[in-house]
Amino acid sequence: MWKGRFSQDTSSLVQKFGESVSYDWRLFPHDIAGSIAHARAQKNAGLLSDAEFSQIEAGLLDIKADIVSGNFEFRTSLEDIHMNIEAELTRRIGPAGAKLHTARSRNDQVATDTRLYCRTEIDGLQLEITGLQLALLDRAEKYAATVIPGYTHLQRGQPVTAGHHFLAYVEMLERDKSRLADCRQRLNVSPLGSGALAGSTINLDRRAIAAELGFADVTHNSMDAIADRDYIAELLFVISLCGTHLSRLSEDLILWCSAEFGFASLSDAHTTGSSLMPQKKNPDVCELTRGKTGRLVGNLMNLLVALKGLPLTYNRDLQEDKPPLFDSVDTLRMTLAVNTEMIAAMQLREATCRTAAADPMLLATDLADWLVKQGVPFRHAHELVGKAVALAIETQTPLDQLDLTAIDPAYGPEAKQVFSLDRALAARTNPGAPSIENVRAEIARWRSVIGQ
Ligand code: ARG
Repeated sequence: MWKGRFSQDTSSLVQKFGESVSYDWRLFPHDIAGSIAHARAQKNAGLLSDAEFSQIEAGLLDIKADIVSGNFEFRTSLEDIHMNIEAELTRRIGPAGAKLHTARSRNDQVATDTRLYCRTEIDGLQLEITGLQLALLDRAEKYAATVIPGYTHLQRGQPVTAGHHFLAYVEMLERDKSRLADCRQRLNVSPLGSGALAGSTINLDRRAIAAELGFADVTHNSMDAIADRDYIAELLFVISLCGTHLSRLSEDLILWCSAEFGFASLSDAHTTGSSLMPQKKNPDVCELTRGKTGRLVGNLMNLLVALKGLPLTYNRDLQEDKPPLFDSVDTLRMTLAVNTEMIAAMQLREATCRTAAADPMLLATDLADWLVKQGVPFRHAHELVGKAVALAIETQTPLDQLDLTAIDPAYGPEAKQVFSLDRALAARTNPGAPSIENVRAEIARWRSVIGQ
C-alpha cells in the first residue's frame, strides 16, 4: 500500500510481528459498513460516478458474504482487516476500488470500526445482563420468603430473605447496564473524515456518513478523534466491574454450596466431579467466573498502560487495544450466559436455611431496638444486650431462653416477643428493607422495569 516510497519489502519477521488481521478480521462487518457510507459520500461529492459507487458497494457486499461463509483468505502480508478488504476489492473490481481510500486514512477507519464494534457488543451485553437479571428474579420469587442469615465480616448478622439477597445482584447488574448505556452514548460519534490526523482537503459530508452509520454526531477535533481510545477504556472498566459483581455472586454461591453452609445446590449440569474423590461436587463455574475476573481487570490495566505515554495522535501502540477489548467482551458474554443457565437451575436447601436463620443471636439487634422503644437510650440498650449475649455464650443457653429480667429490669416480660423471625422481618418495612412484602413488591417493580 505504500510501495511508492520504499525500495525494500517488509521483513517477514516484521510482518509477523505487526500484523493484526489474525484478530481484527472480526471488525469486517463494521469496516464494510463504514466503507459503503464513505463511498456514498464520495459519490455525492462527485468523486465517484454512480456506476463506480455501485461497483464498490456490490464488491464490498460480496466480500462480506465470502467472509461470513468462510471463503475469504486473509493475508497477514496485508497487515490488517482494512487493507485486506481494500486490496481484495481492487483485485475484484479494478480502478474503482483504488478510489475508495480517497479522503480517508486507516486511522479514522479503525477508530470508526472499533466504535461500531463496541456499540454492537454493548447492545449484546445489555441483553445478556437482562437475561441474568431475569434468572435472578425468578430465584428471588421462588425463595422470596426463605429466611437466611445476612452476613457482615462473614459472621452472622441479621435475618434477611434469600429473595432480598438475589435482588441485591439485580441492583448491581442494573447499574452495569446503566454504565453501558452511558458508555454507548459517549462513543456514538463518527470519527470518519478525521483522516490521518488533520482531516482532508477533500471535504466529504461527514454528517451524512455519521447518519448512515447510526452515529448521533461527528467528532469535533480530528486529532482527538484519531488518538481517542477512552471509549474502550470505559467499556473495559464497565466490563471489569460487571465481572466483579459476578465474581462476588460466585463467592456467595461457593460458600452456600459448601457443607459448612449448605444453603444451595447447583445442578449436576453446572458442576463437576473429582477424578479422585468420588463424593465431590464442585462449583467450577463459580470458580471460573471468579478467576476470569482477573483477566477482565488485567485487560483494563493493559489498555490504560498502553495509552498513558502516547503523544498525539495515532501511534502503532494503539493496535494493541483490540486483543484486550475482544477478550473482555467475549469473556463477559460467555460468563453471563453460563451464569444465567446455572442460576436458573440453582436450588436452595430451605430446611438448612431455616435452621441457620433460627439462631436467636440474629435478633440481638432487634432486642436492643425493643429496649429503645421502651425508652432506653440505644448505647445503653446495646450494652444490656451485649451482657445477655455474653451470658448466653458463657452458660451455653440460647439467647431466647435466658431469664432476661434477671439481667436487668429494663427487660420486661414481653421482651421475648422479639424472638420471632416472622415478626422481625415483618417489621422491616422501610424502603429497601427485607420484609417479605417489600421483596415481593421489588420483584414486581423489577418485572415492570425489565419486562417479563
Ligand atoms: N492495524 C492498525 C490498528 O489496528 C490500523 C491503523 C494503522 N494505521 C497506521 N498509521 N499504521 O491500529
